[in-house]
Amino acid sequence: MTQSSAPGKIILFGEHAVVYGRPALAVPVVQVHADVDVSDAARAGVWIDAPGVDLHAELNTLPSDHPIASVINNLFFLSHVSPFPNLGIEITSTIPVASGLGSGAAVTVALTRALSSHLNYAMTDEEINAFTYEIEKLHHGTPSGIDNTVVTHARPVYFVKGQPIETFKVAEPFTMVIADTGIPAPTKESVGAVRKLWEADKVQWEKVFDEVEEISFAARRVIEEGWIKMLGALMDENHTLLQQMTVSSPELDHLVEAARNAGALGAKLSGGGRGGNMIALVEPETAERVSVVLKDAGAQNTIIAQIS
Ligand code: MEV
Repeated sequence: MTQSSAPGKIILFGEHAVVYGRPALAVPVVQVHADVDVSDAARAGVWIDAPGVDLHAELNTLPSDHPIASVINNLFFLSHVSPFPNLGIEITSTIPVASGLGSGAAVTVALTRALSSHLNYAMTDEEINAFTYEIEKLHHGTPSGIDNTVVTHARPVYFVKGQPIETFKVAEPFTMVIADTGIPAPTKESVGAVRKLWEADKVQWEKVFDEVEEISFAARRVIEEGWIKMLGALMDENHTLLQQMTVSSPELDHLVEAARNAGALGAKLSGGGRGGNMIALVEPETAERVSVVLKDAGAQNTIIAQIS
């Protein structure tokens, strides 16, 4: 049996602006993960079992554009495996789907690592990252590539589209409460909405993205110097700009407000928006309280994550 696991991720700063070439900061969230086991099967075929999404099927019965089928078929093609082996593939994930935590990228990375290793087809992290990006493009329109990069490398990443991976140092660990609105939010839709705004007035939106860029520059410095208390105000500013981009929602704004009122140092939506997750920067001793307040305010789930 060959096993692999990949973490979730959150974007700390710069979502959406990153699609337009501005930097964004993202970190892995190891409390949630996708796990894949690949084993040789006694019966003919490639049998996929993903109970979380109610998938129990043989590969050939899935549509060719199915996200999991496209990973497996593309890997069979790349590795020149012939004839197709008889396999059992079990996929589990604790990462909520379509919530901005990178569940799709994590399943692809874990599946690619486990399957390529089972097939004795060696892939570097960069190859896994590039492969996962191609799969993300099939299902998410025009992603920047930040999700697959953070999930593949499982390290804090200062991401600029099209540039080699750059990690950043976290001088002082800090605590985030991640809260899920429970509203599924396909990234493709919010990215498409921002694209329409940008197409209608490029000058105006380029200025907004420049403001986000300033925030991301400052946030990187603050994190690398360990001036964590200054991070909260930057998160609040970034949230305001995301509201202008129309990617917040009443539910996200309500949770952001509730976190701030409960003593968070700053809060913002994280990821594509219009649902999905928000994040709040907290002192470690207020994390539990903020988490309870967020649940009372309607969050479906919360995660307390130590970022280091
Ligand atoms: C999604 O996690 C982040 C977005 O910036 C889209 C992308 O970068 O591809 C909204």
